[in-house]
Amino acid sequence: MCGIVAYIGRRPATPILLEGLKRLEYRGYDSAGVAVLEGGKLKMARAVGRVRNLEELIEKQGKFEGSLGIAHTRWATHGGVTDKNAHPHCDDSKLGHGIAIIHNGIIENYASLKTYLTEKGHTFVSDTDTEVLAHLIGEVYKGDLEKAVQAALREVTGAYAIAVVCQKEPDVLVVARKGSPLMVGVGKDEYVVASDSSAIVAHTTQAFTLADYTVAKLTRDSFRTSTVDDVPVNAQVKELEFDLAEIELGNFEHYMLKEIYEQPRALRMTLQGRVDMRGGQIVLGGISQLARQLATSRRIVFVGQGTALHACMIGTYLMEELGKIPSDWSYASEFRYRNPIVEEGTVVVAVSQSGETADTLAALQEAKSRGAMALGIVNVVGSSISRETDAGVYLRVGPEIGVASTKAFVGQVMVASMLSLFVGRRRYLSADHVTKFLQALDRIPAAIERALLLSDHIKKATEKYIERENWLFLGRGLNWPVALEGALKLKEISYIHAEGMPAAEMKHGPIALIDKGMPVVFVATRNSQYEKVLSNIQEVRSRGGHVIAVATEGDEDIKSMAEDVFYVPDVPELLQPLVTVVPLQLMAYHAAVMRGKDVDKPRNLAKSVTVE
Ligand code: G6P
Repeated sequence: MCGIVAYIGRRPATPILLEGLKRLEYRGYDSAGVAVLEGGKLKMARAVGRVRNLEELIEKQGKFEGSLGIAHTRWATHGGVTDKNAHPHCDDSKLGHGIAIIHNGIIENYASLKTYLTEKGHTFVSDTDTEVLAHLIGEVYKGDLEKAVQAALREVTGAYAIAVVCQKEPDVLVVARKGSPLMVGVGKDEYVVASDSSAIVAHTTQAFTLADYTVAKLTRDSFRTSTVDDVPVNAQVKELEFDLAEIELGNFEHYMLKEIYEQPRALRMTLQGRVDMRGGQIVLGGISQLARQLATSRRIVFVGQGTALHACMIGTYLMEELGKIPSDWSYASEFRYRNPIVEEGTVVVAVSQSGETADTLAALQEAKSRGAMALGIVNVVGSSISRETDAGVYLRVGPEIGVASTKAFVGQVMVASMLSLFVGRRRYLSADHVTKFLQALDRIPAAIERALLLSDHIKKATEKYIERENWLFLGRGLNWPVALEGALKLKEISYIHAEGMPAAEMKHGPIALIDKGMPVVFVATRNSQYEKVLSNIQEVRSRGGHVIAVATEGDEDIKSMAEDVFYVPDVPELLQPLVTVVPLQLMAYHAAVMRGKDVDKPRNLAKSVTVE
């Protein structure tokens, strides 16, 4: 969702800004724009569509020289997808300040601010909340951009990460944040500001994150950070742990495919140093201080959105089976608004790849304010959710660029299983039991490697059904969230309509949809509910549906019941989602490629959804 890049230094800003925007493309966007201060004058270009459209426009308008600039990819919230709604936005031209701003987030009180400014004579040219903020900064500007930004932000409610420049101050870049992510890369005589580190690491590995309500004034060789009330605050410059190769495509055609193939290595990283086979222990440094409190908790609620929500569902099963603590899952967006009951001993676990999902963050804050212990299962180190939690466990699966989440999902499930073992060992599980489970966990990466060998087979099978517009995904128990995840993957990147549900639920309505040739994907591994799933398969077959099954290696029975079978290695029931999801990821990938869709940047979707 909206990407921000800004530069102040001694090099030409435009190539750095455009390259940064390309790095952030994966976040999802619908338009892009740049403003550069060239010889004391603002030069601006904005275009709907891809960053390459913006590049072409800049070439047409003549070079954008200058070493101070801001750039943005927009994901529309207020106002349609048009050039005039794309960022940057300027303050009122009548004032002659020449202020330009880019913004990620939502200004919630923009309507009242707009009325106030209109009464003062301001005229607006876009439908955005961001333009209102630009005008507000212009209204309070008295020759000091930093002060004007502080003053304007004191009037604002909502979420923002902003970068602001002003024609009258060609050596100053002001940035600020509340709620939306923002990071400042510190180079030699230059600063590169961005929504995330992927747009920074090519220039410097030294960076600091702005805390909420903090403003940074950057000149070419110094910076100052303060609160919106102008109280100085310290910014800690830290080394970014980031390998540029992790965000390069390498030999893969798409990031999604690369990330599907990275899963075994990613999970080895998740496990590394956390498994004590001999002692029958899981070592989770991030939560060790809270171990006792966690083991004596009364209820655990997993919250998340999208793919992370599916990991939450699996986490619930794992925690009840292994930790023996009553557990539940909830869409974060629903949890926060339903007046949730948080009693003593309630733990809320926020699951999120980005650590920035607005609903998940808000659910966590709500739970905390009601006295819950807040844990995080997060991938992005230092993200908003990771900072808001009392403690947590990082996924360590590396940056995920493809909008459709894959390796983060298996990472989340792996961490949920580790967390459940961590709790279980402190309650009822013997060291022997844990050791056996750990041995099984340790074999998961290799099992995924085997599942990946199915790719060509899956591609051929998918081709048979590629014209079908409606698919069903069914499973029972732990295979149900996997079915949901399979359906989500297919719909988000290939735009095929797909529904996932518990296999038993099919009879209560969806069975009416099944007609001749409808693809129905069953996650039908050998587990405690296998026989029941076979009955559901028969029900589909007798209505003419085409059955595609994900099954356990060696299961010959299922062959006669399904048109296509994708065999995955046999692993303990509780760990099956880590393996059964792989064929479904590959199926969605191949379907999207066959349909000619933009796999890594599906329409209307954002990688990190920072608005509610
Ligand atoms: C968006 C992404 C999904 C992701 C969800 C939650 O919808 O497109 O892939 O699962 O947000 O994101 P999070 O970063 O919290 O895991």
